[in-house]
Amino acid sequence: MKDKIEALRSKFSSELKTVADLSSLEELRQTFMSKKGAIQDLMKELGKIPNDQKKDAGQMINSFKQEVNEHFEARKKELEELALKALLDHTESYDDSMPTGNPCGSYHPITLIQRELEDIFESMGFDVEDYNEIVDDYNCFEALNIPKFHPARDMQDTYYLTTPNQLLKSHTSAAQNTIMRKYGDKLKKYGRPIRAVFPGRCFRNEAIDACHENTFFQMEGVMIDKDISISNLIYFMKTMLSEVFERDVTVRLRPGFFPFVEPGFELDIQCLICGGDGCPSCKNSGWLELCPCGMIHPNVLKHGGINSEEDPFEYTGFAFGLGLTRLAMMKYGVGDIRVFNDGDLSALSQFVSR
Ligand code: PHE
Repeated sequence: MKDKIEALRSKFSSELKTVADLSSLEELRQTFMSKKGAIQDLMKELGKIPNDQKKDAGQMINSFKQEVNEHFEARKKELEELALKALLDHTESYDDSMPTGNPCGSYHPITLIQRELEDIFESMGFDVEDYNEIVDDYNCFEALNIPKFHPARDMQDTYYLTTPNQLLKSHTSAAQNTIMRKYGDKLKKYGRPIRAVFPGRCFRNEAIDACHENTFFQMEGVMIDKDISISNLIYFMKTMLSEVFERDVTVRLRPGFFPFVEPGFELDIQCLICGGDGCPSCKNSGWLELCPCGMIHPNVLKHGGINSEEDPFEYTGFAFGLGLTRLAMMKYGVGDIRVFNDGDLSALSQFVSR
């Protein structure tokens, strides 16, 4: 027994020296300590030796087992420390000559103005809705009383996808039909007025210059209930604009043509720079054109499932299409629309929300 232990001891110590990582250490531990390992074999042999030698042999096996265990633990600790050191040596590499700059990003001015408007409209009971950028011809035009080949389509030439009937929305009005279908039931069953705003990116086939972009933002709003009139429209527009510009604004309505509203208007605000006297920013007229709007056309309400054939005027409503990009230009005094899309951070990072 003594010889066998001795042979195992030298085998063990020479193999331990070759172990370089934790997993081969574990393998070695198995060959000695597992149920089928070398020490267990010794225990089996213990049964075969004469009784008077058993005690000594047993003690020898036990102390060998202890010895093996201690060596394992010591080597394990060593290897763990080495692994940690290697990790620290390799991972902690940073360049302290890198400029730190501004660690926080900033919001895009359109995002700022959009959020501000969402808060204002939410405080007046409007739902804020999200809508697709890819829409179909029906939602973008036909449901809005713009039949195929109607000349009004010329004003909104956009980008058509190769998938038939799919296009990039040319105005946020493209969501009107969906909103009417979403909330129409609640209006009719429970008398809950439809009040919703839906901001979104719009696209048009435009030649780009300081005042025109092929990609811009609008915020559409609709309100539908019994007896909604132009005075409701004026009230909401005026309240919203006074909040945005943080002062009382004077508005006026001029007739404007859009097939999906009747009557349709262009809403102007009195120039905030000259107070209406006339200056270069309002082209000496004293007014700035801001927001097309109007009373929703009966055909649009019919397409949206709001009114029936029998009572085409049961519900009425207004709609407006606020140019978010234009509003941001006015509010932040940005003279060139291209600033918003060209990704120049030195320009875009100067805006902060109030
Ligand atoms: N959708 C129209 C446009 O983009 C604007 C508009 C919206 C006009 C709602 C009237 C009512 O030109």
